[in-house]
Amino acid sequence: MTETVFDLPGPDDTDLLGRSLASLLEPGRVVFLEGELGAGKTTLVRSILRALGWTKAVRSPSYALVHGYPDVAPTIQHLDLYRLGSAEEALGLDLDRLVDDGHVLLIEWADRLEGVVVPDFTVRLEITGPQSRRVRILEPGDAYIGAGIIAQGVNPT
Ligand SMILES: Nc1ncnc2c1ncn2[C@@H]1O[C@H](COP(=O)(O)OP(=O)(O)OP(=O)(O)O)[C@@H](O)[C@H]1O
Ligand SMILES: [Mg+2]
Repeated sequence: MTETVFDLPGPDDTDLLGRSLASLLEPGRVVFLEGELGAGKTTLVRSILRALGWTKAVRSPSYALVHGYPDVAPTIQHLDLYRLGSAEEALGLDLDRLVDDGHVLLIEWADRLEGVVVPDFTVRLEITGPQSRRVRILEPGDAYIGAGIIAQGVNPT
């Protein structure tokens, strides 16, 4: 497991990180977004979608659990599993099919999946102050995503 850490002093830094992340997403990738309530998971998804050209609203699918963005490339499926009721309900989301169809899955509160799904990488956000965050990119192999973000001029901690 490799870890690449970035300090984000303010929202603009989170936005930049999201934008560089967007350019590294490939069809069928599964990304876990971790961090407490208000850590900035949805904010990061918004930056990713903006970078991919989505101009309309981005709201967390708290009740629907999943919201798709078919008009960007790669296509994005944003999931918020905070209110997921059961493992059965998770099966109903048919995540395998979404992956097979080439969508990128950005999943908030993925711990609800209880090891059923293995992410390609995890973005872990930590609140370090009212406006500041620390983000860790956790990858099972080489720091492909971490290095890709650094290559775009975002400085690691
Ligand atoms: N540096 C920062 N990066 C990201 N968000 C920030 C930052 N500074 C302040 N914020 C604020 O923190 C809040 C993050 O909310 P957001 O909905 O993205 O969190 P979340 O992790 O998705 O929470 P939830 O688990 O409730 O879905 C927003 O109000 C955002 O404006
Ligand atoms: Mg959220």
